[in-house]
Amino acid sequence: MPLSDCKLISLPKIHEPRGNLTFIEGGAHVDFDIQRVYYLYDVPGGSSRGGHAHKALHQLIIAMSGSFDVHLDDGHEKKIFHLNRSYMGLYVCPMIWRELDNFSSGSVCMVLASNKYAEDDYYRDYAEFMRARWQA
Ligand code: TYD
Repeated sequence: MPLSDCKLISLPKIHEPRGNLTFIEGGAHVDFDIQRVYYLYDVPGGSSRGGHAHKALHQLIIAMSGSFDVHLDDGHEKKIFHLNRSYMGLYVCPMIWRELDNFSSGSVCMVLASNKYAEDDYYRDYAEFMRARWQA
């Protein structure tokens, strides 16, 4: 799947004087079945996360609080997304190498995923990922 399949998705935002509310519905805002939710928090300044690709996993990445950068790479092209709004989600399709960095203090990165955690769905070695990409 090409990098052009990875897209920012604008989520509904109910704005009220009492505060804002955003919701995500399966089928409406994400095309995949949400099987897992995980989040990164207390990320020390200067830390970087990710550094891998998934074989089959679809994900939606949201900056629930604060901001960070997501670097995406499909083996041909690279793109950087700066996430800093809790009503914007970045859809990341399978077979995309990703790194997350530039976390602001107190930031929270929530990820909706199409499957449960499975180590055998990961490419953790960039050269191995590239070989698989070029064979595809
Ligand atoms: P990893 O996916 O490498 O983290 P990141 O991409 O955010 O840098 O996962 C870090 C560790 O956490 C690794 O030992 C696997 C474990 N883990 C789970 O047990 N379940 C999960 O849902 C995730 C995402 C990770």
